[in-house]
Amino acid sequence: MTGDTPGAESASDETLTKAQYEDFEELLEYLKRNRGFDFTGYKRASLVRRVSARMKGVGSETFREYLDMLQVDPGEFTALFDSLLINVTAFFRDPPAWEFLRSEVLPALVATKDPSEPLRVWSAGCATGEEAYTVAIALAEILGVDQTRQRVKIYGTDVDETALNVARRATYSPKALAGVPEPLVEQYFERSGADYTFRKDLRRAVIFGRHDLVHAAPISHIDLLVCRNTLMYLNSETQARVLARLHFALEDGGILFLGKAEMLLSHGHLFTPVDLKRRIFAKVSKDLRERMSVINEGGGYEPLEYPMSYRRARELAVDAVPSATVVVHYSGAVAMVNSAARRLFGLSGSDIGKPFQDLEISYRPVELRSALEKVVTEQRPLLLEQVSWPGGPDGIDCFDIHVVPLAEPGGLGVGVAVTFIDVSLPRRLHEELEHTNRALETAYEELQSTNEELETTNEELQSTIEELETTNEELQSTNEELETMNAELQSTNEELQTINDELRMRTGELDEANDFLESLLISQRGGLVVIDRDLRISVWNAQSAELWGLRTDEAPGQHFLNVDIGLPVEELRGPIRAVLGGDSEYEAVDLAATNRRGREFRCRVTMSPLVSRAGQIRGTILIMEETAS
Ligand SMILES: C[S@@+](CC[C@H](N)C(=O)[O-])C[C@H]1O[C@@H](n2cnc3c(N)ncnc32)[C@H](O)[C@@H]1O
Repeated sequence: MTGDTPGAESASDETLTKAQYEDFEELLEYLKRNRGFDFTGYKRASLVRRVSARMKGVGSETFREYLDMLQVDPGEFTALFDSLLINVTAFFRDPPAWEFLRSEVLPALVATKDPSEPLRVWSAGCATGEEAYTVAIALAEILGVDQTRQRVKIYGTDVDETALNVARRATYSPKALAGVPEPLVEQYFERSGADYTFRKDLRRAVIFGRHDLVHAAPISHIDLLVCRNTLMYLNSETQARVLARLHFALEDGGILFLGKAEMLLSHGHLFTPVDLKRRIFAKVSKDLRERMSVINEGGGYEPLEYPMSYRRARELAVDAVPSATVVVHYSGAVAMVNSAARRLFGLSGSDIGKPFQDLEISYRPVELRSALEKVVTEQRPLLLEQVSWPGGPDGIDCFDIHVVPLAEPGGLGVGVAVTFIDVSLPRRLHEELEHTNRALETAYEELQSTNEELETTNEELQSTIEELETTNEELQSTNEELETMNAELQSTNEELQTINDELRMRTGELDEANDFLESLLISQRGGLVVIDRDLRISVWNAQSAELWGLRTDEAPGQHFLNVDIGLPVEELRGPIRAVLGGDSEYEAVDLAATNRRGREFRCRVTMSPLVSRAGQIRGTILIMEETAS
């Protein structure tokens, strides 16, 4: 099966066999290597459909066969390229989005600029230029024509040179201008014959050039980047690469305007929606991204300080702290136990002064004695996080334990404060939160992949619609050609009919003339013969046949002086020559003759010239009659 293609209309990359897939990839490689255009970053399904449609058109059955054709016929590459780069476009394509851009986005963008500052726009994948000129009109409506001419530069780029040449001509048919409101046509276009040309002064603000979005470096310092219905033909990996370049191309705060079917779900770090429905986004600047990440990391808490002046107040305050706190003197004796510690750990005033290591709390839920020693030695606080205490007091099963050195202002160590913070609830909440987060993450991932699938489906749908639009346009133009041919055939037919009618009329007239001549010949009493300048008989009437026995169908074409009849024709040579030479207009000769029945008689032969309308002698008319004597 190597090399078979599926039915062109049902072809997609999913329906290809492995061998077909490999042949297809080889074809793409060939285009890349030998024709300098790399389609490998484009969505396969759409490519396979377009190539298959082209193959059907040229009668190629397999990708291999088609590759052979491409290798020998350079013209086919141009046709394939045309068919793969779908150039469907229009002025103000998707009017609600353009209206929003004109009324909301562009005025805000213009307001961020000084009136002397330039505005740079890039229409990437501009096809035949309608989109670039639409931006020029939208900006001229805000800034006025003069300001637009002075401040605005619009770069229209595409990979398709043929489309760019149309864009450069800036001349469009009335049909192409259907989407432009009448007053704007009046203001921004000049008539040229049956078509319209974009006005010359503004035309200078628009510059067209070939640029490959996938491979070439982007244009920079762009304020508005219009890239509509172009990314959707690329696979998601290539889209991501191109989007990173578009991000680079834009100034901070610059606007990205995509096509109706295009989303940026997975590129939120680069662009943030201005209006998601209309697919208008703003660049997220590098600065903002960095600031956001600092906030997300949760840094920068300022420590709070509480001035305390009274010892008792301090003691009571420590006693009132809701977390259990035990203060251990530098000698190792318990110096203080607050009320929460008394309640939770069953301590009392009598424990004051005891060695801390004698208390159960010094080793349960965790070994604290070495921790205390470390803090005393290093004079640095220590945090034991999330210490579990299964079946702990008061239903508490987890503590954060803070061991903090207490020292005089001069640095002299006084002791250590050990505080037990109940983190059971936060931990439980944290665990639940983590669990919920995990569930949410899974749901989000699923949602995202569904969204991406939807996005892809939507893009594919849109690209299929555009393909259909192209096919429709092609069909329409074929139809128009057929209609033209039909009209031509019809008029040829009518002409033929007129000629036919004329011929019929002429034939009738000829028939009548013939009849008339025939009756002239028949009505002639004697034999009538007409000979041409070579003396060949052209008319031999019935009476001649009757007289000499030579039939009317035998005589024409014979040399008159050679016919074997009962008349000595040789004797007529002289008079005939005289008539033919124009020396005589009438000759008459009497001759002895014998008719076909053998009867002898005197025959009078009169000769006169046969003269054409132009006055030339074309032959001789001879009349042969029996004389009375
Ligand atoms: C469907 S048209 C879109 C035209 C216009 N932007 C619009 O939305 O009406 C897609 C255009 O993208 C161009 N294109 C395809 N691949 C490209 C690439 N790698 N770089 C630049 N343009 C590309 C095609 O030549 C075609 O003109």
